[in-house]
Amino acid sequence: MASELEMVSLFKQELELCKVGPGQTLAVLSMGLVRADYAQAFLIAAQTLGASCFQINLPERPLTGPLSQVGRTPLSGNRPAIEALKQADIIIDLMGLLFSHEQNEITAAGARMLFVREPFDVLRAMFPTQDLRRRVEHGEKMLGAAKAMRITSPHGTDITYRLGQYPVMTEYGFTDTPGRWDHFPSGFLLTQGNDGAVDGTVMLMPGDIVNAFRRYVQQPVRLTVEEGRVTRIEGEGMDATLLRNYIESFHDERAYACSHIGWGLNERAEWHHMALTREPNAEIGVHGLAFYGNVLFSLGPNTELGGTNDTPCHLDMPMRGCSLSLDGEMIVRDGALVPREMQA
Ligand SMILES: [Fe+2]
Repeated sequence: MASELEMVSLFKQELELCKVGPGQTLAVLSMGLVRADYAQAFLIAAQTLGASCFQINLPERPLTGPLSQVGRTPLSGNRPAIEALKQADIIIDLMGLLFSHEQNEITAAGARMLFVREPFDVLRAMFPTQDLRRRVEHGEKMLGAAKAMRITSPHGTDITYRLGQYPVMTEYGFTDTPGRWDHFPSGFLLTQGNDGAVDGTVMLMPGDIVNAFRRYVQQPVRLTVEEGRVTRIEGEGMDATLLRNYIESFHDERAYACSHIGWGLNERAEWHHMALTREPNAEIGVHGLAFYGNVLFSLGPNTELGGTNDTPCHLDMPMRGCSLSLDGEMIVRDGALVPREMQA
C-alpha cells in the first residue's frame, strides 16, 4: 500500500510531465468510490502546483448485458457534467471514457485527458519518461508515413493492413498537448487499417494475451481476416471457443471488425505481470498492452481513431515474438525493435 504522501508525490511528478501549473484548471472525473484515494491525491497535487481544480463524481450505474462494454459510461446524457469538463484544461479520468462519444466531444473542445485506473504499484513501476515519449513519437512518424503494414510470425501469422485513411495515436503515459488523450501509464502506438483493407491470418499462440479475459492464450487460435473483418475463428482448445462465444454474445456484426493495430515500446512493462498480480480483473492490463516489442492486434470499435464503429465489444490481443514491417522496412523482428531510435 502506498502512503498518501507517496501518492501525492508521484501524482505531482505526473502532473509536471503534463505541464499543469498556475493558470490551468484540472478536473477529476470519478465514479462512486472507485479510486477515491487517487481523486484526493490528484486534487492535492494540482493545488500544490498552483492550478485550480474541481472534481465531478458520478454515481455508479449498473451495466446490463456483457460485463466489459466499452464506451458506455455514467457520463452519457449528463449534459451539465459534460459542459463543466469542457471548461477544464486537463481532465483526470478515473472512470474510463475511452471509446465514448463524450470523450471525443470533451477533447474536441480542447481539454486534454489522462486516464488513470491501474493499481498504484503499476503506476510506480511503469512511470513514464521523456525518453519513452521520444521513442513513441519516432514510431508515430514512421507509422504516419506508411502505406502498408505486414505482420508475420513463425507460427503462421501473416496479415497485411493497408494504411493512410486513419490517424496514428500515441500513448506514452502523460499529455501536455491540448485535446490529446493519454493513459497513465502506457507505452505503445497504434493506427487502424483502411476500411475493408485488412487481409490475412492471425495465429494466437500460448502466451499471447486476450486482455478482455485477463488470460494468457493456452492453445493456438487461428483467426482468418477478410476485407477488414474476422470471418473464421478456429482452434481445438478452449481459447477459440471462448473467443467465439464472447463475440457472439454481443449480437453485433461490427464486433468482428479489425480495430487498432500497433506495437509496444515500454521496456518497464512486464509480460508476466498478469500471472503474478492478485486481482487481474481490477486492472486495465497495461503491462500486457505496452510490453516492449509486442504486436497489439485488436477487434471492435474504432471511434478513438475517428471511425464510425462504436460496438461495445473490444478485444485487445498483444502477441509475442511477431515481426512487423512498414512498406517493407522491418520495425519489429521476432519481438524486438529494429530501428535504433526506438530501442530502449
Ligand atoms: Fe484497444
